[in-house]
Amino acid sequence: MTITREDFIHRRKVLMDNIADGLIVFSANQVLPRNYGANSFPFRQDSTFLYFSGIDISGVFLLFDCSSGTVFLAGQEPGIEDTIWSGKQKKLKEWAEESGINEVLTTGQLNEKLYRDKAAGRTIHFIPPYSADKNVIFSRLLGISTDKIKSKASIELIKAIIAQRSVKSEAEVSEIESAINQVTGPMHIEAMKMAVEGKYEYEIVAGMYRVAKAKDLEFAYPVICSVRGEVLHNEQHRNRLKKGQLLLTDAGVESRNHYASDITRITPVGGKFSSQQKEIYQVVLTAQQEAIKKLKPGIRYFDIHTEAAQDIVEGLKAIGLMRGDAEEAVNAGAHALFFPHGLGHMLGLDVHDMEDLGEDYVGYDESTVRSKQFGTAYLRLAKQLKSGYVLTVEPGIYFIPALINQWQENKTLDRFINYERLSEYLEFGGVRIEDNVVITESGCRILGNAIIKSVDGIEALFT
Ligand code: GLY
Ligand code: MN
Ligand code: MN
Repeated sequence: MTITREDFIHRRKVLMDNIADGLIVFSANQVLPRNYGANSFPFRQDSTFLYFSGIDISGVFLLFDCSSGTVFLAGQEPGIEDTIWSGKQKKLKEWAEESGINEVLTTGQLNEKLYRDKAAGRTIHFIPPYSADKNVIFSRLLGISTDKIKSKASIELIKAIIAQRSVKSEAEVSEIESAINQVTGPMHIEAMKMAVEGKYEYEIVAGMYRVAKAKDLEFAYPVICSVRGEVLHNEQHRNRLKKGQLLLTDAGVESRNHYASDITRITPVGGKFSSQQKEIYQVVLTAQQEAIKKLKPGIRYFDIHTEAAQDIVEGLKAIGLMRGDAEEAVNAGAHALFFPHGLGHMLGLDVHDMEDLGEDYVGYDESTVRSKQFGTAYLRLAKQLKSGYVLTVEPGIYFIPALINQWQENKTLDRFINYERLSEYLEFGGVRIEDNVVITESGCRILGNAIIKSVDGIEALFT
């Protein structure tokens, strides 16, 4: 199952039907210089542009006329220089045809059309630009100063796109799932097997990259592969693995059509968990499995997050690191010393799907307001779930010395936390277990073949 021309035509029609009137303009991403013009970062298309067209080239525009239903692709045709340096390029007409678009304009014609339509009082909808270059592009295109562009973005359009992109089709789910089966899963198994004393983290990253490149895929986001797993987004890979440490690996690839996967696994260096590690690991695994069991349409992800936090507190109580009533502890925010992030986020064309459109529009709604409490405030998805949502479930327990010291000095929530016992865990690191799920009519399904996560399963990889 794959994403087709008919899908793009249908997606555009649905969007135009949902916008009361006016025009919608989207800009493709630019090729961005790394250090000088001719040495650029790898090109990554804007995800909304991909969603509505599949057109994977820089510097072009889409214009939808919601009254007539006409769709235009606009831009400059590639010239001889492009052919000389980059090989034969597809003409805009060919891109348009593959996407089911009938009309092609030059950039000049697009400018004129927008100028005329604006003068005639028509609304021009656009999404908030997330980069300086796009700010400038929209500023020029629409005659709005760069500092005002973001505030002029169309809330109606943002909400319509989020409603549409949040519910994944079977083809989209299968994109993510096959990337997990063919690459992300094997990549994690490779990382686990490489987690032996003396290896450097970067060698393991290289091992994972080899698995991805062998299928011509790239990482979907900077890989986290570290024995310092308590640093939540640790993108350094310079440590040498020592016995007694836990390796946290958070990695996923982008599928051929640019859908992300986002998986985290833990491996004890050398393949044997200590009893201290096993206890903490098991608490996280249970919290994750319990959360997954509860997922279904209609349930609020905020509640699942809160219950996972309570499961973590119960587990930490049994170990002697926390005390008191679990519900009270979570209401007071005590769990956030160990679990300072949200349970998960939407996943799709972006690893944190659609966050460029506004995190609160994606994860919250009128009846679900973002908490201001430390930890819970980072929950990116809180609202009621619907069938077709794809999301991550990723609880964790981390021992962050700087945070522990700060809380201990201030005696923060010490009725719930056994700071004395905590001193034995300052070198522990962190545990996070992350899987990707799709919400179904009656529950949810973990995407991809199971990637080993039981203590016995992980240890068996080393025997
Ligand atoms: N890989 C980043 C995250 O889990 O949110
Ligand atoms: Mn994630
Ligand atoms: Mn992740």
